Amino acid sequence: MSALIYQTDSLYDVNKWRQDFPILNESVHGMRLAYLDNAATTQKPKAVIDAITNYYTHDNANVHRAVHMLSSRATKAYENARIQAQRFLNAKSKSEIVFVRGATEAINLVAQTFVRSKVMAGDEILISGLEHHSNIVPWQLICDELGVKLKVIPIADNGDLELDKIDELITSRTRFLAVTHVSNALGTIVPISELITKAHQRNIPVLIDGAQAAPHINIDVQALEPDFYVFSGHKVYGPTGIGVLYAKLEHLESMPPWQGGGDMILSVTFEKTTYNEPPYKFEAGTPDIAGAIGLGAALKYVRSIGIEQIHKYETSLLEYATQELQKVAGLRIVGTSVNKAAIISFVLDDVHPHDIATIIDQAGVAIRSGHHCAQPIMDRYCLPATARASLALYNTHEEIDRLVTAVVEARKVFG
Ligand code: ALA
Repeated sequence: MSALIYQTDSLYDVNKWRQDFPILNESVHGMRLAYLDNAATTQKPKAVIDAITNYYTHDNANVHRAVHMLSSRATKAYENARIQAQRFLNAKSKSEIVFVRGATEAINLVAQTFVRSKVMAGDEILISGLEHHSNIVPWQLICDELGVKLKVIPIADNGDLELDKIDELITSRTRFLAVTHVSNALGTIVPISELITKAHQRNIPVLIDGAQAAPHINIDVQALEPDFYVFSGHKVYGPTGIGVLYAKLEHLESMPPWQGGGDMILSVTFEKTTYNEPPYKFEAGTPDIAGAIGLGAALKYVRSIGIEQIHKYETSLLEYATQELQKVAGLRIVGTSVNKAAIISFVLDDVHPHDIATIIDQAGVAIRSGHHCAQPIMDRYCLPATARASLALYNTHEEIDRLVTAVVEARKVFG
């Protein structure tokens, strides 16, 4: 069965891509690793590991500061990474790409520098029921402090958003819309283009949390026109501790700085400081140079395979995994939208998801169990937790077979 599926897409040579990821040769409990926890973090290709090693071995120096050769090489590599991010998102200008620690920091930056100055008591910020905590709590901080109301687009039973409610949820007091592109817990792909259009018709700026979209689907910010788009490097085969805030240049120009320090200034006296231009205005202090270089290598790597190809392949994996998991007695998939990225949450009779994940780990298969930093989604389905398999460009149909066999085993142990 799975062999047939392999043959349907001869252009996509998963075994070739697998060789790029040294960690996939690891053994876990004596079994070859099957890593299916990619929504938590992805593994890193050699291109990323080499880029970081190369930087520290040959080019290590601070950026934008010194005139010596190493500083010039480090600066060039760092700024090249920005160009990779610009290309990855199809942003108009590299000035629209701010390096941050990750999607979480990017959302907090936008909340504190853009939204804070635009809201007052009685105003509303709209998010969706599908948000990760990192796209809930930064808004709650603002709402609690300034008397702003947080409103939520509800989730339908299948994991889609109830978009027919949007017209009543957006009011004359709505000042901002922040919504995920892909749900980390359910895999739902949100029709963000429709939401952005609706919000913009009413002059409401929009932030898209693309943390779970970046590894799976094409993102074109010039076509989608979000005001802000954020993602984390480590979920798209890059290092941890680095991510991207895309923002329309006009916003970056009008927003006040996020943090003060080196590199974000043009001049400083005790009386007055003038700020650097975007994106540097938002990159105070020595940045994560190696992280940015690693991220640039990751985005280049993904583009070299082609995100459309990756999406197509992952969709075949998702369909196969869905079909095979559904055959397991007592298993229920949570989140059954027809528009999903390669993420499958499930529950199994009344076996606790941590027990499922522990048994599965014994078979060398890594999945996540828990609330996935999305407790309101768990509440929506009256569940404390789910087990979650999340797929990446290097996973195989054979690994799905191993997952299914291990789930059946877990049911035998606990059933
Ligand atoms: N947000 C990450 C996840 O979904 C950590 O697992």
